[in-house]
Amino acid sequence: MTFSRLILRWYHNSHRNLPWRSTKDPYKIWLSEIILQQTRVNQGKAYYLKFLNAFPNIDDLAKADEEYVLKLWQGLGYYSRARNLHKTAIYISEELQGHFPKKYKEVLKLRGIGPYTAAAICSICYNEKRAVVDGNVYRVLARTHNIQTEINTNKGIKQFQHIADKLISKKNPGDYNQGLMDLGATICLPKNPQCTCCPMLNLCKSAGDDKIHLLPVKKKKKKPINRNISYLYITDGELFYMQKRQQNDIWKNLYDFPHLEEQIGIKNQTPSVQQKLMEILPNQPFKNISTQKFIHHLSHQILYISITIIKINRLSKNKNYILMNRQKLLKTPLPRPIDFFFKNSINTID
Ligand code: ADE
Repeated sequence: MTFSRLILRWYHNSHRNLPWRSTKDPYKIWLSEIILQQTRVNQGKAYYLKFLNAFPNIDDLAKADEEYVLKLWQGLGYYSRARNLHKTAIYISEELQGHFPKKYKEVLKLRGIGPYTAAAICSICYNEKRAVVDGNVYRVLARTHNIQTEINTNKGIKQFQHIADKLISKKNPGDYNQGLMDLGATICLPKNPQCTCCPMLNLCKSAGDDKIHLLPVKKKKKKPINRNISYLYITDGELFYMQKRQQNDIWKNLYDFPHLEEQIGIKNQTPSVQQKLMEILPNQPFKNISTQKFIHHLSHQILYISITIIKINRLSKNKNYILMNRQKLLKTPLPRPIDFFFKNSINTID
């Protein structure tokens, strides 16, 4: 039996029941695919259902405030994905009368949609023969075809896409693509592949090889950047200062506290926390309660975060900061460490 028939037969017997599997609505498939680029299926399901509940169709998403979209996305990271999702919904709603494009080349022009997402949407919704290549697919193809090329190089990307394009089912590209991804997620696992129950066992060039877990081969990533962020949580017990991050940097349009920042290893004249505090609260008595430290990992950065809690009697307006309270936080998109701080430091901070 051919590669694609084996995948399809296995998929039809063993696929996972997932909420986006019962629809061919391109809006819903788009949403599921963007969420699944950020997280695993289990956590992704909850986000998918939360988004659909808040925005049942493209026009609802287009009408929403960006801040609300970011709030629902909170915890997934890569907030530009959520901002692009929202901008593209506005574009489709206003410029395309709410109709999602129906051809791969048109879908690919949309902001935030690359070859992977366009292929997933067009194969699943329109039966267009476009092969998806995600992390799971790289692993299955590298092993079944015993390919040693590094997958995160231009050569690797081209080679794997070429093989994927050759293998894809003409008859049912959507199910085939999903089958390949499901196989990678449930059988052809990174560390402990379940070769004995794999439908590809007979044609797999790596099954039984004790080095199978070394495939696919990846080129080592560059060293991550280390950043120190010293936050000041300045509160009078009810109100506290926050600011919206406007720069083209991590967490754009999310809210955090006044802070100081330096890139570790680069010598600069960063003022101290005390100096910053004097700048924000000149001549005001304050109590410095405690400092909490976290390390937060992003894909290319390691953040060494400290949050110093400062209590003062009454917090007044400040042109550089927003006066926030706990109630407003419910609607405010927060970086993960800030959200963590509020959820886990309740006794210390009030
Ligand atoms: N990962 C991302 N999209 C997927 C899909 N449609 N099916 C299975 N795994 C996926």
